[in-house]
Amino acid sequence: MLNARLFQMMNEQLNQEFYSGYLYLAISSYYATEGLSGYAHWFKKQAGEELEHAMKFYDFIISSGRVVDFKAIEKPEQAAFNNLREPLQLSLAHEKKVTGNITTLYNTAKEIGNTSAASFLEWFVQEQQEEEENAQNNLTAYENCNFDIDCMKKLDRQLAAR
Ligand SMILES: [Fe+2]
Ligand SMILES: [Fe+2]
Repeated sequence: MLNARLFQMMNEQLNQEFYSGYLYLAISSYYATEGLSGYAHWFKKQAGEELEHAMKFYDFIISSGRVVDFKAIEKPEQAAFNNLREPLQLSLAHEKKVTGNITTLYNTAKEIGNTSAASFLEWFVQEQQEEEENAQNNLTAYENCNFDIDCMKKLDRQLAAR
């Protein structure tokens, strides 16, 4: 069974993954209303991935003999944006924060000596590397366009292919 501290942290991370999904849906809907359907699609897909992450925590908690403690999901910290860049910056900052939480969780599992939790979390450590990279790439690609409309449209089409 998960010890109380690790359970509490895993349970919190489950909630945070749902929150990430909420945040990315907020971003997706913003881009949709701005007419950038590729960006909207990309972030909607990302929201789906976050829900899959939540389910991984759900399954792990259940299989370790604990009952999931469902808490309220916070509303997205930002849902209205001043420009197309803001959500990209926000998602990068958000993924960095999540990486910090996952690292703490992973280190705690190792400290406690819960090897099955630690190996479960290894997947997330890798995944966070990828998530941060994607968020950084999105931001960089946007900045490289330097407000050129054709360049933006091309990016939007690329993101639609995810
Ligand atoms: Fe996630
Ligand atoms: Fe993520």
